[in-house]
Amino acid sequence: MSDEVPTPEITGPSVRPRRLRTTPALRRMVAETSLEPRQLVLPVFVREGLAEPQPISSMPGVVQHTRSSLLAAVNEAAELGLGGVMLFGIPEHKDATGTGGIDPAGILNLAITDVVAEVGDALTVMSDLCLDEFTDHGHCGVLTPDGRVDNDRTLGLYAEMALAQAAAGVDMVGPSGMMDGQVAVIRAALDVAEHTDVSILAYSAKYASAFYGPFREAVDSSLQGDRRTYQQDSPNAREGVREALLDIEEGADIVMVKPALAYLDVVRRVRDAVDVPVAAYNISGEYAMLEAAAAQGWIDREPAILETLTSIRRAGADIVLTYWASEVARLLR
Ligand code: PBG
Repeated sequence: MSDEVPTPEITGPSVRPRRLRTTPALRRMVAETSLEPRQLVLPVFVREGLAEPQPISSMPGVVQHTRSSLLAAVNEAAELGLGGVMLFGIPEHKDATGTGGIDPAGILNLAITDVVAEVGDALTVMSDLCLDEFTDHGHCGVLTPDGRVDNDRTLGLYAEMALAQAAAGVDMVGPSGMMDGQVAVIRAALDVAEHTDVSILAYSAKYASAFYGPFREAVDSSLQGDRRTYQQDSPNAREGVREALLDIEEGADIVMVKPALAYLDVVRRVRDAVDVPVAAYNISGEYAMLEAAAAQGWIDREPAILETLTSIRRAGADIVLTYWASEVARLLR
């Protein structure tokens, strides 16, 4: 008689990763990445002289706000616990040097004051710091007589714009023009004027992208040509890391990669290379593409949105700018 225990016959794999996917509770417990309202920033457009909010046809669900409809949108964002809002202004009159961006009575500066008065400290109020919404040629800087974008002459205007936005009460400025040295010049201007608490979210690795198309409609841009002499070239990831490191040296508090989806590798590389928060901008074309497919019934809209934003977080973004921010915060409740 033997007291040997018979070895059961192994009929399948002993290591089974599927076990941790069995129930929603288990999946939730082991999730490596979270998506939370505080990580989301809502970009908003406000247009001068507008009587009613104006839909943007290539961005279904997104509007150009009036000064008063903007306040409803930012109030909602605050109630939902978003991280912040990023303001873009569309002036009635554009000119060669983007005067409307610097004028204290310009639409963006007025909107900053309105929004800060409305939401106080409940949201981080950020503003786009760039000339393209304000110039009649649609470029992010002023032009030389032969039509090139003049880096160093533009820097002085960015400094003035930063001062106007700080005087209006902004918490954080977002230089998005990709001029060399822009962060240093803006930081110095703010510091000299004792706006040392105004922080800088630098659009550091910003690529010349076909996915900005709907944004051009959103800000009534009249851009002729392209931005390839100042925005980055899509083949270059190492250069995105270089731009981010430079911006940090110049005083950036947060660095951003933009667009997000076609540049998730750059988000990861920047995240691994720096020790400041990293943001990524889920831009207009990324929004439009998903909305268009969902409207056709080709993809399931809400899961696709959540998967998209989770992928940007998983790539390494601490903060995500997205036109779905308020809707997603509601879904996450
Ligand atoms: C420049 C700016 C742009 C966007 C944000 N800031 C346009 C550009 O650089 O051409 C694009 C945002 C989007 O597409 O959602 N002020």
